[in-house]
Amino acid sequence: MKGVVLVLFEEFILGNWDEATFEQLLDDCPHTAGEPFVSPKTYPDQWIVDLLGAACRRLGLTPAVALQSFGKFCFHGLSRRFPAFVEGMESPRRLLESVNDIIHVEVRKLMQGAEPPRLICRPAADGPNVLDVEYDSHRGLCALVSGLLDGCAEHYGVPFQHEHTRCKQRGDTVCSFRVTFPVLASERP
Ligand code: HEM
Repeated sequence: MKGVVLVLFEEFILGNWDEATFEQLLDDCPHTAGEPFVSPKTYPDQWIVDLLGAACRRLGLTPAVALQSFGKFCFHGLSRRFPAFVEGMESPRRLLESVNDIIHVEVRKLMQGAEPPRLICRPAADGPNVLDVEYDSHRGLCALVSGLLDGCAEHYGVPFQHEHTRCKQRGDTVCSFRVTFPVLASERP
């Protein structure tokens, strides 16, 4: 996992708790504590898993809640660090539709060793304002996707709903979210 995610995790803990809490989490995961996290480096995926696990134990969070709130925080952190990707997208739908073919493609070019997930958006049969978003990653961080979707809705001030319709952890063959955007007055028949 690229260092930017670990740097964001540090900011997430410092912003919501404090330095002492972050130090405790590093003490709980001594293999992660050698030197400060830096964005360009690539770290073992297990590090973020271990740090989130330690945060759950110390702070009394469930893994799903911890990943979800971290995901929401990440959306804001990533869009601040890479404003060009977000500024060009006029709506949350446009942004989601560009993650796979534009944003994560650029991420692979910009950051050596990056392995962002595949995020395939397809119009759903339920109506023009509904998207199915399939998440494909060996990391299985679907609760992080859920948080990123919340962050995206908050960023645009568009309260879209999302439902985790299929999940590999529940035995489905893929992880998928159904995202329903509000129908604007100008779009009503
Ligand atoms: C400003 C927009 C975005 C930027 C700049 C961005 C960039 C990145 C970067 C740098 C990583 C780390 C990759 C690695 O360590 O190999 C990442 C991972 C990830 N991204 Fe994005 N991303 C953006 C938006 C999104 C959105 C909107 C979603 C989903 C709704 C998403 C889903 C994920 C997930 C789940 C991961 C964790 C790695 C995994 O599950 O395999 N990203 N992204």
